[in-house]
Amino acid sequence: MNKRLMLFCLVLLILSSAIVFAHSKGKEEIILQGGKMGNITFPHHMHHGVVNDCMVCHKDFSREPGSLQAAKDKGVLKKKQIMNGTCLKCHKDRKKAGEKYGPVSCSGCHTK
Ligand code: HEC
Ligand code: HEC
Ligand code: HEC
Repeated sequence: MNKRLMLFCLVLLILSSAIVFAHSKGKEEIILQGGKMGNITFPHHMHHGVVNDCMVCHKDFSREPGSLQAAKDKGVLKKKQIMNGTCLKCHKDRKKAGEKYGPVSCSGCHTK
């Protein structure tokens, strides 16, 4: 193999693994269905930085687009179960602890 071909293959390898890696982290921002209150723009990657364990959220729904709503539609998750048990719980706990926290009022999340 000549040098240029080798370099080309190397670049291709790096690019494809970057794409696979980016994909496995999911979308940067996800619009979640919020029923009558309006949808939620959820900053997914920002949370990867503040929550060091993916399973804090993904123990309840898989890492597939639409998995949260699908679990609710099937009745595996109750309405507002994730909102109260995961999202709001953490935001309130962190507020109480005097740490950085996310929205705790309805309109802080349901903005769409
Ligand atoms: C604070 C909660 C939370 C944390 C922590 C979290 N996720 Fe997610 N993730 C979500 C939500 C909400 C969805 C959207 C599910 C849906 O579309 O119904 C999602 C969706 C995904 C998807 C599906 C593709 C997409 O973007 O819609 C992938 C892949 C994913 N997450 C990977 C990860 C990985 C890897 C980590 C850990 C580094 C992680 N997530 C941590 C909440 C979280
Ligand atoms: C930290 C963000 C956050 C805050 C604050 C928040 N919500 Fe939500 N809400 C969500 C998420 C995420 C969902 C979708 C997941 C679920 O149903 O658990 C949701 C879903 C809902 C739904 C739809 C349930 C359904 O399936 O029909 C309603 C209604 C709702 N919220 C009302 C409220 C009200 C009222 C408040 C204020 C008291 C509030 N939310 C505060 C994130 C939030
Ligand atoms: C384990 C803790 C934890 C969980 C779980 C969590 N959050 Fe957060 N969230 C945070 C923290 C901490 C911040 C503030 C980060 C900062 O300001 O640097 C935040 C910020 C936010 C913000 C504000 C972003 C901004 O630009 O100001 C939104 C919206 C939000 N969270 C929605 C959600 C939703 C919806 C869920 C559930 C699917 C969720 N969060 C689950 C810790 C959490």
